[in-house]
Amino acid sequence: MISSGTNQATSELNPVDPRCEYLVNPLGIDVRRPRLSWVFATERHGARQSAYQILAARTPDTLAAGRGDCWDSGRVDGADSVHVVYDGPELESGERVWWRVRVWDEQGRGPFESVPAWWEMGLLKPGDWTGRWISLPSAVDEATSDRSPSQLPCPYLRATFTLTQPVTRARLYATARGLYDAHLNGQRVGDALLAPGWTDYASRIQYQTYDVTDLLHQGPNRIGAMLGAGWYCGRVGFLGAHSNYGRFPELLVQLVVEHPDGVVTVVSDASWEGMTGPILAADLLMGETYDARAELPGWDHPAAGRDGWSAVRVSDRDQTPLVADRAEPVRVVEEIAPRSLTVRDDHVIVDMGQLMTGWVRLRAAGPAGTRIQLRFAEVLNPDGSIYTENLRGAAQTDVVILRGAGDEVFEPRFTFHGFRYVEVSGYPGDLTPERITGRVVESATERTGSFSCSSDMLNQLQRNIVWGQRGNFLSIPTDCPQRDERLGWLADAQVFARTACFNAGVAAFFTKWLDDVADAQSAEGAFSDVAPRLVDLADGAPAWGDGGVIVPWILYLCYGDRRLIETHYDGMTRWLAYLERHNPDLLWKNRRNNDFGDWLAIGAETPKELIGTAFFAADARLLARMARIIDRAGDAARYDALADRIAAAFVDAYVTPDGRVQGETQTGYALSLQLDLLPVDLRPAAARHLAEDVERRGGQLSTGFVGVSHLCPALTENGHVETAYRVALSETYPSWGYMIRHGATTIWERWDGWTDERGFQDPGMNSFNHYAFGSIGDWLYRYVAGLDVDPARPGYEHVVMRPYPGGGLTWAQAEYQSVRGRIASAWQIEDGMFLLDVTIPANTTATIAVPTAAPTPDRSTADDSTLETLNADGDGQVTAPEDARFMRWEPGRAVYAVDSGRYTFRSRLSTPAP
Ligand code: BGC
Repeated sequence: MISSGTNQATSELNPVDPRCEYLVNPLGIDVRRPRLSWVFATERHGARQSAYQILAARTPDTLAAGRGDCWDSGRVDGADSVHVVYDGPELESGERVWWRVRVWDEQGRGPFESVPAWWEMGLLKPGDWTGRWISLPSAVDEATSDRSPSQLPCPYLRATFTLTQPVTRARLYATARGLYDAHLNGQRVGDALLAPGWTDYASRIQYQTYDVTDLLHQGPNRIGAMLGAGWYCGRVGFLGAHSNYGRFPELLVQLVVEHPDGVVTVVSDASWEGMTGPILAADLLMGETYDARAELPGWDHPAAGRDGWSAVRVSDRDQTPLVADRAEPVRVVEEIAPRSLTVRDDHVIVDMGQLMTGWVRLRAAGPAGTRIQLRFAEVLNPDGSIYTENLRGAAQTDVVILRGAGDEVFEPRFTFHGFRYVEVSGYPGDLTPERITGRVVESATERTGSFSCSSDMLNQLQRNIVWGQRGNFLSIPTDCPQRDERLGWLADAQVFARTACFNAGVAAFFTKWLDDVADAQSAEGAFSDVAPRLVDLADGAPAWGDGGVIVPWILYLCYGDRRLIETHYDGMTRWLAYLERHNPDLLWKNRRNNDFGDWLAIGAETPKELIGTAFFAADARLLARMARIIDRAGDAARYDALADRIAAAFVDAYVTPDGRVQGETQTGYALSLQLDLLPVDLRPAAARHLAEDVERRGGQLSTGFVGVSHLCPALTENGHVETAYRVALSETYPSWGYMIRHGATTIWERWDGWTDERGFQDPGMNSFNHYAFGSIGDWLYRYVAGLDVDPARPGYEHVVMRPYPGGGLTWAQAEYQSVRGRIASAWQIEDGMFLLDVTIPANTTATIAVPTAAPTPDRSTADDSTLETLNADGDGQVTAPEDARFMRWEPGRAVYAVDSGRYTFRSRLSTPAP
């Protein structure tokens, strides 16, 4: 589903979908100079903004009256509509600003106005927080033993307070060292899950802001929260360790209640009381145990009794910054009904039909003390039992004990599982499909892209990629959601980021994660393998650490986000300086640390030093570009020169005069071509060797994590389009098609996760939901559908449409809701004619490179009249809409420039038979 954010199709240039820092009306941000963006709904040809004015007001009424008493940008000429920086007075904590934009079109008509929007500041100064961390003493005492705090009952904490006047506005600012679920007067606050999310808790802790005006009333009120161990003190990663950041969960809240004539603040402090309840244990990896007999009915109601509640433990806040959560919360975004239920021995196997991340909601009725166990698995053994060996130490098992009160509903709070199958044992009576529901949990990023074509296999691949992304974008980009790992590996993120940016609005999500990457950088300047960095994991290996440079660049391309470059520039330069310092001869020989190489490549081994050196050069080149973007010309020149020298060293060390790259692997060739390491005259030969390797393997790939995203683009851009399609469409092992033929509904970690000959790979490392190999998605959008951005005008200010038909596909289409509005490309082939239908959003321009078999005229003489002659000739015809401007011929393409709007082109792809 594409959310266009608009419902007006008009010829007027109405600005729609106003956003602040990528979000719609964000509540509680701490970006001091937030950026404002808008898009346009009209498909009118040539619609363009010639000027804008932003009005920002302190009340909705002032704004409605057309006044910007907080900030009035005045009329600003130009087409800026993305990331316009708020330039009014410094804002206070809790201040809400109402804003709208008015624009004038290319003929000066206007102003056309957006609907009003707002943003609200969070708590901006450390001194704003007056509460203290509170916890439950029993949790603290027991956590001094070796037991993981996640194996202890979850604390419930609460306080009562009386409001003597009506409430005009109330905000709850809440966070935890651990996880929290906040409650007010018997209701859960908001729908965010697993808050405050994962950060390096020693470097920064996120807080969330909730509008709780409607949950409070004059008289007695009760505030409360349940706490879970989560990433803070539960188990994380494969080292079996718990308590990575602390020994017990703690809560910090601040409730700010405004009355008609004053403000009352309620905070976490010694006045709170605590108790344990039904959640006997909750761990992200191990699962949750819930004993309904220990429920605390009404614990969060003002009138509830005090039996068993005792004083909380209080500790002072330290200097750790509390930062506003800036990304979409984790939420339940979809429910799935089971596809089938199979009774086996003493249990039932439930098939959700889709490998997903989250949990199930279970309904059951039975005698008090009935113990129901739910075990979650990705795949089944050949005998139909669940396969759990690949989960390693992650038990992902939920247990519910009934209280015997009729129909009871269970859903966990402080865990998540990666699964398609659920083994239910101990269920009283018949488990029917209505009694068990899959709850899909993810960072609730908005779906922005879709791709489909005439190949069912590629369509399934696209679905699997999207599910892989959804299942692994949970607070941070994880490698996998099921086994005892679930870490933010930088290479996985780096290779998949471009694909991710198409499928969903991941700018805010990645902006948050790039802070984790920055927090994880070593004092020496090394980016890490994983972020948040777990203490024992090493400094960045080639292609892993480089994620710290590549991801900001990709976000800049896709979202035009220059501020990210500014924010992370120093960190990136320190990384490059670290590489340079340890590798004076410009080949990345030293400090390759974990040196994973082309991880999980199949049947080929790319020399690791070569991989490292390729990324070293790429970093320098990207840094040169980024330096230029933020006006540091001196740095840019220096980094360009460095990139040139590394590339020269690369060629000297690893490339033969006939374009053979050491190791002669697909990854070696793809990196050399796509990371721009080869002199122009060697590129065709290198590309030929690459294509030959693929053909020699019968059209099969051999790339691992590092090479996979570059393989099809390298082939396609260098004249081997059909070879690229052959790889992409293959259903023979190893390939995406092979996974799909074997029932994959996500992307496997390994090409040989399961083979007909060998069955399952080594369970020590065999996830069925890793997105890295899903990075082929970028090729589907950018090459098959041809929808791309011009790096010189990022954020799709200028769109490049360059579809590469091939592989026998008869049609393909992609849509993308960019920060500039909706872009679409759809092509089909009929009787040798190529029909291309493109939509370019208002206030942008595009280059359309239409494939054609038309004889390419001599470039020096090609102009409009040449084209007209060709048209008149009939053969090799290209028909373009009148207002598309012919620019030039390229081999096999006629290139046009268009302004915004929808356009259709027709060209002849093959010469008709005589
Ligand atoms: C993870 C990967 C990661 C890798 C490092 C694996 O265990 O699952 O996705 O990039 O280790 O090589």
